[in-house]
Amino acid sequence: MRDRKQPPVILGIETSCDETAAAVVDGARTIHSSVVRSQVREHREYGGVVPEIAARSHIEYLDDMITRAMDEAGVGFPDLDAVAATGGPGLIGGVLVGSTMAKTIALARDIPFIAVNHLEGHALTARLTDGLRFPYLLLLVSGGHCQLLAVLGVGEYRQYGSTVDDAVGEAFDKTAKLLGLGYPGGPALEAAARDGDPGRIPLPSPMVGRPGCSFSFSGLKTAVRHRVAGMEPLDAVDRADLAAAFQAAVMRSLVDRSANAIRGFRACHGDGLPFVAAGGVAANAALRDALQRLAGENGMRFVVPPAALCTDNAAMIAWAGLERLRLGRTSDLDFAPRPRWPLAELTHR
Ligand code: KG4
Ligand code: ZN
Repeated sequence: MRDRKQPPVILGIETSCDETAAAVVDGARTIHSSVVRSQVREHREYGGVVPEIAARSHIEYLDDMITRAMDEAGVGFPDLDAVAATGGPGLIGGVLVGSTMAKTIALARDIPFIAVNHLEGHALTARLTDGLRFPYLLLLVSGGHCQLLAVLGVGEYRQYGSTVDDAVGEAFDKTAKLLGLGYPGGPALEAAARDGDPGRIPLPSPMVGRPGCSFSFSGLKTAVRHRVAGMEPLDAVDRADLAAAFQAAVMRSLVDRSANAIRGFRACHGDGLPFVAAGGVAANAALRDALQRLAGENGMRFVVPPAALCTDNAAMIAWAGLERLRLGRTSDLDFAPRPRWPLAELTHR
């Protein structure tokens, strides 16, 4: 039996997209291990994630990833106080693999199971890394999501705006594909943009100057496609300049929308509270710099987790599981994995 005076120890599992990840985290905010196996090689030839391949790969590697996470942490199954897995939103095959594994461990060890909303995992990461208190303003930018929210408590989110079409990471990925920069697109596009001139090829800045906090990226993607069609064949300089122009347009849009959300957030919650970025696109250095400046101009502390905790990982799932465990909000073993699971549906649960 574990000593109950010690901070609780949890195993987290993440399988909602193309990363098979496991982590051991404790209630004192220590990440004992966090291992991630990317499936990039399996999906590369298709230029995007193939759900069936992803699910099969999770089945093949999850056992091994859990063993590695527990070995690295020096933890055995009797040491676990709970097990958490992403319960959605995501590719349902993968979510089923991870949540079924977590339920099985919970049943075998007679410990609580927590089905974690993947977005809540991203949203609460800054509390794991920086010990933030509620409330804070969050820009959540990933491959599947783009939203601005006030994080008021565990399960308590107020959305200021989200995307009306593509998520920002999706826009990075599609644009990178269009430019022939390879897969995965976000990091490849950021690398190409570093050598580019953002001023040579003008592109629109989506939504800039409009009221509210909605995002839209499909028009920008189409504008890039038209430019490419007019310039082909592209050489390396064209690619770099287009990447730089695209990235600059995305930054202008994210900063403009965030500025509107900051105004609303400060009016409602007061000054001096943190502004947080999370999700895979928050690994982008140009975005981090732009948001840091914006936060500074508004007297806010800017907090962004290290890049490895911005992209998908299981430490964030373990941490969100601990936050819920602390509040007694564990899940039943008959929890049904959810391909769609908006954060708004967590409120007051
Ligand atoms: O959070 P995440 O790992 O998975 C989802 O929950 O979607 O985010 C993945 C997304 C992908 O679209 C990827 O291209 C993007 O994050 N991404 C980036 C960078 N690193 C990852 N986008 C721009 N710049 C980056 N450095
Ligand atoms: Zn994610």
